[in-house]
Amino acid sequence: MHASADLIEKSLEAVAERVGDPAPLVYRRLFDGNPDLQALFLRDHDDSVKGQMFQQVIEAVLDFVGPRGFADGLFATEWVNHQGLGVPGDQFTRFFDVLVETFRDVLGADWSDDFDRAWRTVIDDIGAVIAQRTAPA
Ligand code: HEM
Repeated sequence: MHASADLIEKSLEAVAERVGDPAPLVYRRLFDGNPDLQALFLRDHDDSVKGQMFQQVIEAVLDFVGPRGFADGLFATEWVNHQGLGVPGDQFTRFFDVLVETFRDVLGADWSDDFDRAWRTVIDDIGAVIAQRTAPA
């Protein structure tokens, strides 16, 4: 189990208590920062693809800090797959920063330095896994 697991779970619970599903806020922030990304969701007429993707990102983060059964592989595979969709690698990992920025805004005064450190560490660790798994042999 990752040292940050508890804090990651607590922060997600706190966000859910405050706003329910944070996905719309995360995508709004993502597209405000980079409007070109919205057009990539071509066949997402009812936001279900975005919802599915968001769900899978959160499940993978929870796996990454918990049992760590599939997250490493999923992050690395999707990093490559997303380049085929037109998402450059740095934009892919930026999604995690947008997640954290959104959660910080949602929780306001209840966003703690501990939450911040926990998420930064996990994001760095995910970045390291992607870099390692996608490095040319
Ligand atoms: C800025 C970053 C990202 C953008 C712009 C983006 C964009 C997209 C798009 C356009 C699709 C739909 C593909 C299609 O039409 O078939 C998709 C699907 C998906 N993305 Fe992302 N993505 C991003 C980051 C991530 C990250 C960090 C993950 C982490 C695991 C991820 C996981 C997935 C998965 C699992 C699906 C398939 C969802 C389904 O079941 O339909 N994406 N993404």
